[in-house]
Amino acid sequence: RRILLINGPNLNLLGTREPQVYGSTTLDDVVSSAKEQASKLSVHLESFQSNHEGAIVDRIQAAGVGGGVDAIIINPGAYTHTSVAIRDALLGVEMPFVELHVSNVHAREPFRKHSYLSDKATAVICGLGVHGYTVALEFAAKHMKIKDK
Ligand code: DQA
Repeated sequence: RRILLINGPNLNLLGTREPQVYGSTTLDDVVSSAKEQASKLSVHLESFQSNHEGAIVDRIQAAGVGGGVDAIIINPGAYTHTSVAIRDALLGVEMPFVELHVSNVHAREPFRKHSYLSDKATAVICGLGVHGYTVALEFAAKHMKIKDK
């Protein structure tokens, strides 16, 4: 299994950005733990972070047909609440995905309650802190139904 982890805007600041909301673990720490976990689970993990909506759309498209990716774990950051383009990209490549948020988006500002992705996601994880990445990867590696090739 090949899994692509996508982190959207401002997640490069994980660990220093609003630590009371997102904790003090950096994205580098998250990614290196995830890589270690992936090798124990015998899955291939690729990681991609971008602050740019179009770059995320391009990465999703590249993962699609012939891209050698079976499932995506995506923390779309603020694009969760705004991006029809990221939704369309995921649907366009028919890629099963887990939507992940570090914080509990339902316990915050009302505009964070709506997601353009949740109704199409295989699973939605929020509020587990960075532990959500561990849970998402375990699920994607062991239990997620992926497309037949
Ligand atoms: C987030 C939640 C979003 O509302 C926010 O814009 C983020 C991070 C999270 O991981 O909790 O950038 O996706």
